[in-house]
Amino acid sequence: MDAIKAITERVSVPQLTGPDITMAQKETLFQAALRAPDHAWLRPSRYITISGDARSTLGEIFLQSTPEWESLSEERQQKLRGMLQRAPLVIVAVTRVQDHPKVPRDELLLSTGAGIQNMLTAAWALGLGAIWRTGDMVHSEGVRQALELTTDDVITGFVYIGHVNCTLKQPPVMLSTDFVSEWNGETLVKTND
Ligand SMILES: Cc1cc2nc3c(=O)[nH]c(=O)nc-3n(C[C@H](O)[C@H](O)[C@H](O)COP(=O)(O)O)c2cc1C
Repeated sequence: MDAIKAITERVSVPQLTGPDITMAQKETLFQAALRAPDHAWLRPSRYITISGDARSTLGEIFLQSTPEWESLSEERQQKLRGMLQRAPLVIVAVTRVQDHPKVPRDELLLSTGAGIQNMLTAAWALGLGAIWRTGDMVHSEGVRQALELTTDDVITGFVYIGHVNCTLKQPPVMLSTDFVSEWNGETLVKTND
């Protein structure tokens, strides 16, 4: 698929299904992620894949690391348990934060965000669907321990990837003129003025 078409037409896909993502498809996604801009080439991003039975194992950790989970309704418990079943592949994007004289913390997180966006676009170009999710589980100690994260690691997203299993939404048309101005050397001018 043409790169501009993929970038300008991609939408997030919340309902995903099998078959499993192939090794070749995964490698394309990782190579896309690794082309994210990265100030000083600090390589702050790590990606952890969760698929197959590991999804239900981590789903159980999602549930049991939720405060007072035993008093949650059965429906809520099943929802937490089943969260990772919403796609055949979930990629946990992690930013390793470190002090650097020139590269502030935010830039490390932004770099991983760019890596995630590259994966979303690459998935779309491969004919797959994907969605970037976060939620409470990015802060869960149980999840962090299971994934062997250190105190310097930040979970930047759970990227769900699979085959499209719903009607694709039609995003509203957005006019660039609503978001873009020109600064003419003195003041901001709307580009449609
Ligand atoms: C940092 C970040 C976290 C997000 N977390 C969630 C989430 O937890 N659950 C969710 O349904 N959507 C989440 N979203 C939104 C979706 O990824 C998606 O962007 C949104 O549904 C709009 O769809 P679109 O990408 O097709 O415009 C998040 C987006 C970002 C950028």
